[in-house]
Amino acid sequence: MRVFIIAAITADGFIGRHSLHGSDWTSREDKKLFVRLTKEAGVMVMGSHTFATINRALPGRRNIVLTSRPDVIQIEGVEATNDAPAELVARLEKESTAALAVCGGASVYAQFMEAGLVDELYLTVEPLLFGKGVPLFSGELDAKLTLLDTEQINDNSILLHYAVQHDRER
Ligand SMILES: NC(=O)c1ccc[n+]([C@@H]2O[C@H](COP(=O)([O-])OP(=O)(O)OC[C@H]3O[C@@H](n4cnc5c(N)ncnc54)[C@H](OP(=O)(O)O)[C@@H]3O)[C@@H](O)[C@H]2O)c1
Repeated sequence: MRVFIIAAITADGFIGRHSLHGSDWTSREDKKLFVRLTKEAGVMVMGSHTFATINRALPGRRNIVLTSRPDVIQIEGVEATNDAPAELVARLEKESTAALAVCGGASVYAQFMEAGLVDELYLTVEPLLFGKGVPLFSGELDAKLTLLDTEQINDNSILLHYAVQHDRER
């Protein structure tokens, strides 16, 4: 199963101003890219803080929310789970899932990276500076990336597409 991270970041590396800040600052082109890539994947996972900024199931995709209190999130079309990332990936693999889009936030991105589960990253760099806020990853990492592709998606925004080098390649 292919597992990828998808995120929009400011030019100074933040994904939001605070943990309940939504995505009102990202470009139209990034929003379109998010819809396309998550629909192609078919399954998306996010943390409960990120879900709180959306609070509904996104159509045309399987919506999985990580939370320590799965019973609290009772929303049609949303699967809440307290599986650890590796358990979730193993479960989806058993179900023959082809791809999983990891949609944040910082704690979820970090957990999937730390567990060595991520194959690729799509990062849209938006032309903004927050100065402080929620970083892309909430924990320390030691990862090396290979640049697969770059694309200028509008006058000011760049899409970076990376592969994660796993230990055997490093
Ligand atoms: N720019 C972007 O592309 C982008 C994308 C996504 C998010 N964001 C931003 O990121 C920020 C939120 O990030 P965040 O790190 O604060 O929160 P988050 O990762 O969205 O959610 C964290 C919460 O999810 C639950 N959780 C996470 N991992 C879990 C696990 N393994 N098992 C059970 N529960 C788990 C816990 O909540 P419980 O209390 O429910 O247990 C945890 O407090 C917001 O500003 C959002 O807008 C930006």
